[in-house]
Amino acid sequence: MLELETEKFKAGDIIITYQDVWKGFEDLSVYEGLNLEIRKGETVSIMGGSGTGKTVALKMLVGLLTPDRGDITVFGKSIIGISEKDWVAVRQRVSLLFQSNALFDSLDVRENLAYPLRIKDPHIAESEIDRLVEEKLGLVGLPGIQHKKPSDLSGGMQKRVGLARAIVTEPDVILWDEPTTGLDPINTRRIGSLIKRMNEVLGCTSIVVTHDIGTAFEVSDRIAFLFNKKLILTDTTENIKKTDVPEVRNFLDGRFQGLYGE
Ligand SMILES: Nc1ncnc2c1ncn2[C@@H]1O[C@H](COP(=O)(O)OP(=O)(O)OP(=O)(O)O)[C@@H](O)[C@H]1O
Ligand SMILES: [Mg+2]
Repeated sequence: MLELETEKFKAGDIIITYQDVWKGFEDLSVYEGLNLEIRKGETVSIMGGSGTGKTVALKMLVGLLTPDRGDITVFGKSIIGISEKDWVAVRQRVSLLFQSNALFDSLDVRENLAYPLRIKDPHIAESEIDRLVEEKLGLVGLPGIQHKKPSDLSGGMQKRVGLARAIVTEPDVILWDEPTTGLDPINTRRIGSLIKRMNEVLGCTSIVVTHDIGTAFEVSDRIAFLFNKKLILTDTTENIKKTDVPEVRNFLDGRFQGLYGE
């Protein structure tokens, strides 16, 4: 059994690495040497155009996809070739918030949140589920909606229920796949504050995959840019804002023009 000794890692220690990762699908090459290190407690955004591999990077971290070459480590342990049982252990610590909310439509909100809790501990008491569900719904600003079905909720609320489900087991790392796509400006800002709150209240480390430069600038300690099958620039948000790396500059300027309707 894979033992992830998460408690040995202090804020600022490297807890995730991608080391020269290559990944392709049949005749499509997505990554040719992905390198990235994530430190405990930081929020790192990965930005890049549509179809450049952002979701693939997150999926490799939770075992939904496997690299063709290279290594990925989580809390100091390689996760290449581990057993399905070990993946369950990794997913307790690293939680993926899907781009599509992937809620179970036939289950109410409580049961959606109970699902990962029952996987983590099949003997968990119903009263403990009630407590954790109430706490996490409160944290995402949706108290009291335990008995609603996903179809009764707005898109923004579904996103936040998805988030509550991603954090209900109290993971160390949250992977946010396009958390603000399709949301209005108010819900977009709400998600931005939630990403920061998860960091402040739960001490979570976050990797955020997004097209939304505003959110990336607001929440990130560092930002990484995907271009041509690798990360071409990873730097602090402050340095990214004034970068003159042409591909990144174009991406940023293009978005700003879009944002301001120019
Ligand atoms: N399971 C899969 N099988 C085959 N091809 C895949 C698979 N998953 C992803 N791809 C391909 O890999 C490339 C990268 O996909 P990915 O979903 O990571 O893009 P993305 O950067 O997240 O895009 P978006 O911004 O649109 O969400 C795409 O061309 C996609 O079609
Ligand atoms: Mg994607």
